[in-house]
Amino acid sequence: MDVLGYHEATKHSVASIQRAPHHLDWEIMPRPFKLYPDLAPIPLPQDFTSAPRAVLPTLADTGDAAGDGPHLDRRTLARLLYFSAGVLRRKTYPGGEIYFRAAACTGALYHVDVYLVCAALPGLDPGVYHFGPHDFALRRLRAGDHRAVVAAATAMEPAVAGAPVVALLATTFWRNAWKYQARAYRHAFWDAGTIIANLLAVAAAGALPARVVAGFVDDDVNRLLDLDREREATVAAVALGRGAPSPPPAPAVVPLGLATVPPSDREVDYPAIRAAHAASSLAAASDVAAWRGTLAPRPFVAPEGDVVLLEPPMTVAEPVETVILSRGSTRAFVRDALPLAAAATILQVATRGIPADFTAPGAPLTDVYVIVHAVDGIDPGTYVLDRGGGALHRLRAGTFRREAGFLGLGQALPADAAFDVFWLSDLGAVVERFGERGYRAAQLEAAIEAGKSYLAAYAVGIGATGLTFFDDDVTRFFSPHAAGKSVMFLMAFGRPERRRRQS
Ligand SMILES: Cc1cc2nc3c(=O)[nH]c(=O)nc-3n(C[C@H](O)[C@H](O)[C@H](O)COP(=O)(O)O)c2cc1C
Repeated sequence: MDVLGYHEATKHSVASIQRAPHHLDWEIMPRPFKLYPDLAPIPLPQDFTSAPRAVLPTLADTGDAAGDGPHLDRRTLARLLYFSAGVLRRKTYPGGEIYFRAAACTGALYHVDVYLVCAALPGLDPGVYHFGPHDFALRRLRAGDHRAVVAAATAMEPAVAGAPVVALLATTFWRNAWKYQARAYRHAFWDAGTIIANLLAVAAAGALPARVVAGFVDDDVNRLLDLDREREATVAAVALGRGAPSPPPAPAVVPLGLATVPPSDREVDYPAIRAAHAASSLAAASDVAAWRGTLAPRPFVAPEGDVVLLEPPMTVAEPVETVILSRGSTRAFVRDALPLAAAATILQVATRGIPADFTAPGAPLTDVYVIVHAVDGIDPGTYVLDRGGGALHRLRAGTFRREAGFLGLGQALPADAAFDVFWLSDLGAVVERFGERGYRAAQLEAAIEAGKSYLAAYAVGIGATGLTFFDDDVTRFFSPHAAGKSVMFLMAFGRPERRRRQS
């Protein structure tokens, strides 16, 4: 099965949901952490302070900070990990405990783990480490500087080759497929993307260069992390810092066979996930080098409707860390109108561009479509964003709350929101330029921008939530402009309903 076949086969429609309702087997709900019972925890410090930079420029940062940034050490890494993949809150229920993380995740299943491949750093020996959010500790999988393995796997991608630390994000398919079945492969990129959005923002707040790298020889990286290659996969790398001396030749990557606690007593295999992953894998550094680059810039196709110029982003003094601590998916919206400044800020800050090996400002893999329900100064209707021009162009005027609710899988959230944002990608063009690996890049770009938009919303004092959707119905809804494009991500924004206090 190729990636387009996978995408087609995992589309939601009214018919697909009626045909195959999925009942959750609570007996085998996977645990939300990867546990290595035989490795000693290396505790991380938690006494970090916020960087002084204000949140919105931090989110909009495209990662081209001059210089090498601050020295990375154990404390800086702790801060990056806490605010991207850490457990920020715990809630105890009669049935157990829920751990709320820094970044949103489909179904709160937290199937994406963060690993670090490090040079020798102050307070940390060189090695390959797993980050355990449950006890805020690292565990060392391999001793010694293995960055050369990652650099070679990325065909000497310059940011990776000069980085003192590379973060690798890897999913365990079953930990999400338990609920979402084969669609979990999409979620690997969605849920890695929200973590990466936080990571980029926290790095930018501390003037630390960071770059997302999606092109690498899969087997080499997965072997380095000792992943079970039938059940787990690295989905993205993020190079952190710059100007490190070239990595020395790495020690041999011998199989470790490290014990891990099974996520549940039994697992269900979804072959479509493995097929999509195999189809989008790169086998040799020469394939990676040919892969790297961007789409040819495409001119924005302006529809005929009215144009709403988006005012410059607002100014908010808070640092990104405070905003991350306040983030949580909104569970219900009230139908209040939002100020134009809030919507304009979210749309612009999130879509400025991502430092990555597959995209650049002016050459995104996704287009942004919006349904406006209640934003002061924008007539209700459907719009497409001109990223470069900072403007919304109207496709259709009208009130579409009912339609938005349907498109978001019949949920109330997108109907009650003030506006909904959809990322769509011309997957045909993406696969033509990038081959099958382009599918991962398109999902990732949308998810990172969506992750930024989550934080931008909380920064301007409103609520947000990611949502799933009826694929082809969304494309039809925004057509003819969106004809031929596929939906990558959906976010809803609005004023959160205040929960009544329980007496
Ligand atoms: C890609 C994505 C899709 C989501 N889809 C839905 C959804 O369809 N309905 C919903 O109520 N919440 C959805 N959520 C919100 C998650 O349930 C939420 O992130 C998770 O429970 C963790 O809670 P938190 O975001 O408050 O930390 C989605 C989140 C993401 C990142």
